[in-house]
Amino acid sequence: LVAAMEGVEETYVMIKPDGVQRGLIGEIISRFEKKGFLLKGLKLFQCPKELAEEHYKDLKDKSFYPKLIDYITSGPVVCMAWEGDGVVASARKLIGATNPLQAEPGTIRGDLAVQTGRNVVHGSDSPDNGHREVALWFKEGELCHWLPAQALWLK
Ligand code: TYD
Repeated sequence: LVAAMEGVEETYVMIKPDGVQRGLIGEIISRFEKKGFLLKGLKLFQCPKELAEEHYKDLKDKSFYPKLIDYITSGPVVCMAWEGDGVVASARKLIGATNPLQAEPGTIRGDLAVQTGRNVVHGSDSPDNGHREVALWFKEGELCHWLPAQALWLK
């Protein structure tokens, strides 16, 4: 929760099992990297059921919740923490609408998916949830604080 205390905005982005299974890891990471946000955490991870339930606890009463938990735990996911001013709302724009059939072309879901239940990627929906989810999915020691080349050695 260091970022929260420092007032730094961060978001949790996750490539869901279908994105991993379809070979879309590089394509999806590339979109956030090119946008210019700072990657501070990255791992391939088999999510345990308890963590999936905690992550989606606000949706516990929804009819699709059991299927959602089965889906998220059905294979490895790629966990990412991205930092930057406005990163939460911007990541949601890059990701697109929840239903990929309604997501605009140019968005990740609009370009790469067809089903709500297989919509390839997750992004936190508020700055508070950004902090909550980054802290939920990463240990503090897994997060890196670094500067891009322009600030370090590329003049
Ligand atoms: P939600 O938080 O509403 O959407 P988003 O991921 O865009 O923030 O829902 C979480 C996930 O639950 C969503 O990505 C896919 C799944 N889901 C369904 O399977 N069926 C549904 O009708 C909805 C609304 C979501």
